[in-house]
Amino acid sequence: MTGPAPVTTADPLVERFRAMWAQLAGIGRDPDTGGYLRYAWSRAELTCRGWFTTEARRRGLAVQADGNGNLWADWIPSGVDPAAPAVVTGSHFDSVPHGGGYDGPLGIVSALLALDELRDRGFTPARPVTVAAFVEEEGGRFGLACLGSRLLTGGVSAQYALGLTDSDGVTVAEAMRAAGADPTAAGPDPDRLARIGVYVELHVEQGRALVDLGAPVGVASMIWPHGRWRLEFTGSGDHAGTTRMVDRRDPMLTCAHTVLAADAQARRLGAHATIGRVAVRPNATNAIPAQVHAWLDARAADDTALAALVDAVGADAAARARADGTSVAVVRESDSPPVAFDPDLTDRIATAVEATLRGPVPVPVLPTAAGHDAGVLAGHVPTAMIFVRNPTGVSHAPNEHATDDDCAAGVRALAAALADLAGE
Ligand code: GLV
Ligand code: MN
Ligand code: MN
Repeated sequence: MTGPAPVTTADPLVERFRAMWAQLAGIGRDPDTGGYLRYAWSRAELTCRGWFTTEARRRGLAVQADGNGNLWADWIPSGVDPAAPAVVTGSHFDSVPHGGGYDGPLGIVSALLALDELRDRGFTPARPVTVAAFVEEEGGRFGLACLGSRLLTGGVSAQYALGLTDSDGVTVAEAMRAAGADPTAAGPDPDRLARIGVYVELHVEQGRALVDLGAPVGVASMIWPHGRWRLEFTGSGDHAGTTRMVDRRDPMLTCAHTVLAADAQARRLGAHATIGRVAVRPNATNAIPAQVHAWLDARAADDTALAALVDAVGADAAARARADGTSVAVVRESDSPPVAFDPDLTDRIATAVEATLRGPVPVPVLPTAAGHDAGVLAGHVPTAMIFVRNPTGVSHAPNEHATDDDCAAGVRALAAALADLAGE
């Protein structure tokens, strides 16, 4: 008796993508949720970094970690000036809690496969081509998104960053030390930055625009300004059974009202607001909380709308706190200004991708409200992004997806961009 025939495809790149993707698929995956727990400097993320180092070395690339823990794998063929500004591509391995598998790793896997494509066709770059893996892009462990690229570019001081803590009170410095990295080397790295001539990040699309447009791949135009705010609600802890309703000063009520206000204000302003994380003290079923911290993630098309959103949420929270006999403090934790990707670079990449994929529609140019290391680097070097269609449109959740065929199209698109940028 013969079993079912194995699923094969006529496209060898799809097979290569599948094989490489399978190597990462189990790392840090929670079998219960199907989501990934790949926090920065955790065992799972370190396993991914080890995988990256092995794969890069297998290709003859020289791999280095910078003082901030970002990894750099250089392809510098003989005759190429190693000091020449490189064409850099890459992304990150870390995930949000129970996040999807594509956000980040797709950019790194695609970068390695794009290099393979270029080599297979005998292409030799005229300048270094580098694959980068940035640390703590999501801020899923220490709260500050794009930590590795912010440190590299001086967007956050080492002193501040190294003192950030995770939910167990472990500092960045301690986590680095535990992973064998030297935190005293963290900080701005102008030499490394000067060696980035151009940065192109491939990423799974975080929305459904490409599905609706019928295109496997798009390029990014801009990133909405966004940020994170900690809302500190303070009331009076007390007994859940014996405290008369009239005597309560319950910060959970103020928080609950603020969650609804954030949603309403974002809808009113055409912006996005989310409260997806709360910490309650003492977090007991039979105690009125003494304190609730809630984190507001707010994003809008421009700075004015973002400021209006955060001000309105803060005002609603304060008004409700007065009525509840509680207090609220709004503490900004991070700030990501609007990013306009380099228009000439974006056009150039769209043209190269179009010539390669010859799709039924022109390569769409899309704005995004998601943050990326590319957004941080865009303030320092010409930067662009390539998006790969996501049929679910979902991201930061387990059913984030991209088909193997679209991932192969993404690799071809990235290879076309790299060839164009690194050629003579
Ligand atoms: C990163 O993915 C973010 O936009 O939060
Ligand atoms: Mn993300
Ligand atoms: Mn990402």
